[in-house]
Amino acid sequence: MSDQQNPSYPVVNAHNEWDPLEEIIVGTVEGALVPPWDVIMEATLHREELWEFHRMHGGTPWPNELLRAAEKDLDEFVHILEAEGITVRRPTPYDFSRPLCTPDYEIKSSCYALMPRDVLLVIGDQIIEAPMGWRSRYHENHAYKDLCKEYFQKGARWVSAPRPQLGSKTYKEGFVAPQEGDPMRTILTEFEPLFDAADVIKCGRDIFAAISSCCNRFGIDWLQRHLGDGYRVHEVEVYDTHPMHIDATFYPIAPGKLLINPERVRRVPQIFTQAGWDILVCPEPMMPSSHPMYNSSRWICMNVLMLDEERVIVSKGEDRLIQAFKDWGFKPIPCNFWNFSTIGGGFHCATVDIRRRGKLESYL
Ligand code: ARG
Repeated sequence: MSDQQNPSYPVVNAHNEWDPLEEIIVGTVEGALVPPWDVIMEATLHREELWEFHRMHGGTPWPNELLRAAEKDLDEFVHILEAEGITVRRPTPYDFSRPLCTPDYEIKSSCYALMPRDVLLVIGDQIIEAPMGWRSRYHENHAYKDLCKEYFQKGARWVSAPRPQLGSKTYKEGFVAPQEGDPMRTILTEFEPLFDAADVIKCGRDIFAAISSCCNRFGIDWLQRHLGDGYRVHEVEVYDTHPMHIDATFYPIAPGKLLINPERVRRVPQIFTQAGWDILVCPEPMMPSSHPMYNSSRWICMNVLMLDEERVIVSKGEDRLIQAFKDWGFKPIPCNFWNFSTIGGGFHCATVDIRRRGKLESYL
């Protein structure tokens, strides 16, 4: 019996980035706020000239025209997914504007439910709520609780990593982000395990994670021990002055095909080259440098979404990447997304895979 005819797949089932996609959560612009300024922002946001905007407007709603433009992109994206037969689920509206005060820190507000990829790590039939590095994102999982409860009731496993304290011991005091060319460093100490779900990317039994200003070695160790012997969690060496999340840097997009960011991946892990994988080098982004990007860099063009081993959703305007995908044998589906990227990220950030038709395998 082929996988396709097998009706007994778990409701949550995602082992890699390319098995045929059946169900996905897409974020929402509803209630989205400018992230409140905090210690971690200078360590994770590339565009220094836009920090002032966060300092001034953090904790207040995004300007309406930015939100509406982002929403238009997201609607187009959802429309494409549904037209391709994929079930799209959305977070529950949540009030992000309330201040947080814990025994370890205070912060003006939460942020948004724009990017479920950062919050929930789905591996196999398991949903892991990530121990996130930003204080203002500590409660973002609440926007997905209804969905998690539903998936649990339908048979998924659902856990939360140890909730981090995020007090002064979590971040290096007086941290200054490196300049291009300086040795890489991140703001996190090893005080407690930390990662955002998007610091991790799946490739069957091999799971890849990169140290960032949201992910420390303690977090990677926690994940390896939690997943157990059936998985190998590898640390990928990357170079990024403001590292946050692996999915605009290092991305296994199909069996034997690894997409890499040429500025950030200086050495491809040997297991890929030994296994004969094709290394696909992402072409230079085409988004104009003047396009405002409050949360990510222009390399967000790499942040595509695979619908299966061939079909890939890519941002309109990224003609070089669209052509490269064609040359590499993929079927690109262009969708407007630069305006969503202004306040959020790419297609991979804006989603989290719930079910792909496939099983746990080793590709390396
Ligand atoms: N930090 C990356 C960059 O600026 C963006 C990664 C976004 N990924 C995500 N899942 N939110 O290029």
